[in-house]
Amino acid sequence: RKSSAVADKDLITKTEKGAQKKKQTKLDTNPPKGTRDFYPEDMRQRTWLFSQWRDVAKTYGFSEYDAPVLESESLYTRKAGEEVTEQLYNFVDKGDRAVALRPEMTPSLARMVMAKKGGLNLPLKWFSIPQCWRYERMTRGRRREHFQWNMDVWGVDGVEAEAELLSAMVDFFERVGLTAQDVGIKVNSRMVIGEVLTELGIPEEKFAATCVLVDKLEKVPIDAIQDDLAELGLDRSVVEKLTEVLTNKSIESIASVLGPESEAVKELSKLMSLCKAYGIDEWILFDASVVRGLAYYTGIVFEAFDRKGELRAIAGGGRYDKLLETFGGDPTPAAGFGFGDAVIIELLKERDVLPSFSSADIDSVVFAMKPELYDDAIAIATKLRKAGQSVDVVLEKKKTKWVFKHADRIQSKYVIIVAPDEFANGEVSVKDLSCGEQTSIKIEELNEWVEKTSS
Ligand code: HAM
Repeated sequence: RKSSAVADKDLITKTEKGAQKKKQTKLDTNPPKGTRDFYPEDMRQRTWLFSQWRDVAKTYGFSEYDAPVLESESLYTRKAGEEVTEQLYNFVDKGDRAVALRPEMTPSLARMVMAKKGGLNLPLKWFSIPQCWRYERMTRGRRREHFQWNMDVWGVDGVEAEAELLSAMVDFFERVGLTAQDVGIKVNSRMVIGEVLTELGIPEEKFAATCVLVDKLEKVPIDAIQDDLAELGLDRSVVEKLTEVLTNKSIESIASVLGPESEAVKELSKLMSLCKAYGIDEWILFDASVVRGLAYYTGIVFEAFDRKGELRAIAGGGRYDKLLETFGGDPTPAAGFGFGDAVIIELLKERDVLPSFSSADIDSVVFAMKPELYDDAIAIATKLRKAGQSVDVVLEKKKTKWVFKHADRIQSKYVIIVAPDEFANGEVSVKDLSCGEQTSIKIEELNEWVEKTSS
């Protein structure tokens, strides 16, 4: 018999074990708030979207580039009061460097262009699909990470660049099954604001911060940004004048305020006529209230939106001729846009034009009916793969019934059974799952079969 001391010890150990078990909390399987996991089905959808973006970019002669997701924080420390700089995912790394996850791609692109010190042939037309990070308040279509298709043209002064960019955007919309009834692109020029400020004698260095402020006015009442206004040294009358100009509904009425010599009016009119030449004028509308929230835009700005008005901006962009100078580089004209992956998917779902991504696009499931035929089944799978098929080999011992169920679930087109008698005859049994027909095919004729069935 155990002594009572030993029994007590046992008892304690058991209780401790129980407590330990309780303490061990289960892993929270959610990804960090505002971020997404991409399960295979989601990944197929993402790959599909990216390939549409890539195809359009290629059609327009743009080259793909990339940069690190981690950048120096100083790349984003602009002082115009933009939301994006307040939403930085930033930290000090182990080497005491202030770094940040990129909230957008444009500063990285500017850094890359500047690094080549004029060694790049201008104009350049580049695109990328970076993942961007912003500590946002979460709303429909706004997340803490998103993928953003970027198209940028560097080295072109005129609005020909913007027109080309707008056309590429429209091309994408058409490709994915949207029409000018679903989506519109509002266009404006920040030069409208610039000209009003000049007329009122406001110094140029207030331009960027004023634009950012005017953009905020769209979302919040003027009283809410009274402090920002005061800090900028603008009085209410300036903002009231700006708001008055920006509520003009047409280029003509802006022209009547700014006068016939207005550069803003000239470039807007030119852009509109180029859009006609591209055949995209149905999609484009002038809207003086569009300013966009980023400080670096200097001229034309634009924003794609859903015509039902239910979703956040689908994409946004504009001209940013002075960004490189703010980094100490040479003045270089540039224009571009960013197009996020979140809102567009919502819109495509809503319009019911999103393809189905439920299956992996498998051609054949190859199955050895007997374990001793497994090596031969691999040889057959290899032959089919080399011929271009996507092949799923049944890796474990399974019943035929399971194999057919599995093939059905992954939506394979064929099941190829390697069975003893047929194999001895140099054949395999092929079942076409679309019609249920089963035939025997000579192994040496499998290449021809692949060719015939893939055409
Ligand atoms: P942005 O207007 O800040 O511009 O963003 C462009 C687009 O990215 C938005 O219209 C939206 O589609 C998507 N986006 C932005 N933030 C989020 C978010 N939190 N969640 C989901 N989607 C989002 C820029 O970033 C500029 N760098 C674009 C550019 C390129 N301008 C010239 N070249």
